[in-house]
Amino acid sequence: MRIDKIRLSGFTTYKQEAELDLAALGPGIIAVAGPNGSGKTTLLEAIPGAIYRQTPSRGSVASIATARDAKIELVGENGAPFTVRLDVDAHNGRQEAVAIDGAGEPLAGPKVKDYDRFVAEHFPSPEVYLASFFASQTGVGSVLKMSRSDRRALFGKLLGIERLENMAEEARFRARAVEADMAASRAALDAIRDGAEDVATLEAEYKEAKEREAAAAGAARQAGEKLKEATAARDRLVEEAKEYERASLTAREARAKANSAKADLAGLEAKVAAIAPILERGPEIRAAAARIQALEAELEKARALGEEKAAEHTVLQAEATRAARAYEQANFAHKEADRALRDAEARVGEAEVRIRSAKKATAGVPCAGLLDDEKRSGCPALVGHFKTEEAARKEIVELNDTLIPMASEAFKATSDKKLAAEKEVVAANAKLNAVGGELGEYRLKYRKAQEELSGLKAKDESAKLARAEAEMAGHRLVIDAARKTYETAQAEADRLWSALGAPPDLGAPSEARAALAAAQVAHEAALLDVQDEAGRVVRLDEQLKRARDAQAKAAALAAKLAPMETELAEWRWLGRGLGREGVQALELDAAGPRVSGLANELLADAYGSRFQIRFETQAAKADGKGVKETFDVVVVDTERGREGNGEDLSGGEKVIVGEALGLAVGLFHAQAAGVSLGTVIRDETVGALDPENGEKYLAMLRAFLRVGRVHQLLYVAHNPALVDMADAVVRVEDGRIEVR
Ligand SMILES: Nc1ncnc2c1ncn2[C@@H]1O[C@H](COP(=O)(O)OP(=O)(O)O)[C@@H](O)[C@H]1O
Ligand SMILES: [Mg+2]
Repeated sequence: MRIDKIRLSGFTTYKQEAELDLAALGPGIIAVAGPNGSGKTTLLEAIPGAIYRQTPSRGSVASIATARDAKIELVGENGAPFTVRLDVDAHNGRQEAVAIDGAGEPLAGPKVKDYDRFVAEHFPSPEVYLASFFASQTGVGSVLKMSRSDRRALFGKLLGIERLENMAEEARFRARAVEADMAASRAALDAIRDGAEDVATLEAEYKEAKEREAAAAGAARQAGEKLKEATAARDRLVEEAKEYERASLTAREARAKANSAKADLAGLEAKVAAIAPILERGPEIRAAAARIQALEAELEKARALGEEKAAEHTVLQAEATRAARAYEQANFAHKEADRALRDAEARVGEAEVRIRSAKKATAGVPCAGLLDDEKRSGCPALVGHFKTEEAARKEIVELNDTLIPMASEAFKATSDKKLAAEKEVVAANAKLNAVGGELGEYRLKYRKAQEELSGLKAKDESAKLARAEAEMAGHRLVIDAARKTYETAQAEADRLWSALGAPPDLGAPSEARAALAAAQVAHEAALLDVQDEAGRVVRLDEQLKRARDAQAKAAALAAKLAPMETELAEWRWLGRGLGREGVQALELDAAGPRVSGLANELLADAYGSRFQIRFETQAAKADGKGVKETFDVVVVDTERGREGNGEDLSGGEKVIVGEALGLAVGLFHAQAAGVSLGTVIRDETVGALDPENGEKYLAMLRAFLRVGRVHQLLYVAHNPALVDMADAVVRVEDGRIEVR
């Protein structure tokens, strides 16, 4: 795995964004320098921190975040170009991470679960990464400092032994399954053998049962025949009884029909008898009816004559009225004339009175006697009297000459007319009275005839007679037919009754029934026998089937068990072979010398042939019985002729031997996995080296770069000599990164 660029912000000292462009530095050894606490470790641990979200020395990457938008971006190559970006919120620890390919296409994230899955599939495991690419002063991942079992586990991982262990486990699982299957099959076989019935015995029993079933079936057939016969005998008798029943019913019905016809006839005869009296009175009723007709004609005539007389009477009445009115007028005129005559005569009298009073007045005047006529006429006192006298005289003359003669004439004329009118009235009234008398007579006669007619009509029975005659005509039509019907029905009933004969014997059917019941009982018993026998046959058949089945199953199980033994042996062999003590141990045994060989090669560049490293993969058990799997490191100091676990080496020697082993593990990983190591990190692993050992260490690093074809090795060192020996220097100060 190669890292080309690191960019980070929001972690420990990196308040602003800082970037380290490793690609620009070229291959070789790069020293990372700077004061304590300036951020060197933070920078280097950002690499596994971004990939695994865990730092080698400070736990979760979130624990060193200091800002809400802390970020790390790595650009590099791990088989293929990649970029990973991690965002951390320092307040709540929330994280998002993405992986992107060389073309900028997203590969995983932003959910950390998805991202972690991607990392687990495409990057080395964290243990392998720490052992192969990363070492620090804390000793995390250091092979020398590890416990035996951790070391063994690490080598297992480096070799991919986990896969072998999985296969071994699978083989062991298969073996257990075959074992369980065999045990179950054996148990089943034993159970079958214990419980199985003997096929031959069952076959004999079955044959016998079959024969008994056939015999029972024969008996049942015979009982069935008998039942059929008894049924037929009973049915015959029942049929005869039914036949008699039907014939007697027909005869009874015929008799009922005859009786009903007789009743119909009697009814008709009663009706005829009921209307006979009115029919006998027929001539009498008809004569009365004829009289009604004659009376009606008379009345009609009388009514016409009456109307004529009434009309005549009306005319005469009008004439009498007219005559009376004419008389009234004549009388009135006569009275007028009488009054006019008397008026005229009265006026004459009045005029004479006036003359006398005028004469008297004249005589009263003193001068009247003295004066002649002429003078007197000129006397004003007399003139008025003279004039009055003159006028009265004139009026009298006039009345006597004209008015009175005229009035007298009129009086005479009206008197004549009155007399004539009076005569006419008398004549008209006489005529009217004569006709009125005749009319009265007519009316009297008419009323009497009417009274007679209504009396006759009230008693008239001609309608009743007509109805009776019509009814009688109807009865005459049907009565003969009814009589004939009755006679025919009576004859048929007599015939049927005489043909019916004697009733059948009532005892015979009950005997037949008893016989039938007995036959039924016998038949049912025979059928039950058949059922019993058939049931036995079925049961035996099933038993036989089960027994044959068990036989077959036992044979099949026995056949199945034979190859299982071989299969079990094979799975057991595989389980052991692939297990810890088999191929795994062989692989680990082989890995030991390879790693130690690589470490020794690196050490040779530093110390020549002085130090030799060896792995012990087996050790004698404490009780002296056999050996156990182990993974101990043995350091041999050829100069001093000592060997041990490295505890007695000097500080500098321990660092270099430990580093040789760590670097060799990296090389072994690169070889085993077929990858190049790319970017390797050493954070203050060499703090305690004196200048001499420093040089040795650097010589060993250069050998490592050469042997492992490592692109860059980054190491943190405070020792200025070591810094100067590097190919490039990166300076970190208070969260800023500079390259020199
Ligand atoms: N979890 C943390 N949160 C904040 N600051 C931290 C944390 N851990 C360490 N530091 C500080 O970050 C600074 C940088 O530490 P580090 O990267 O280890 O420095 P260096 O390796 O250069 O000595 C130090 O001052 C250290 O105290
Ligand atoms: Mg540090």
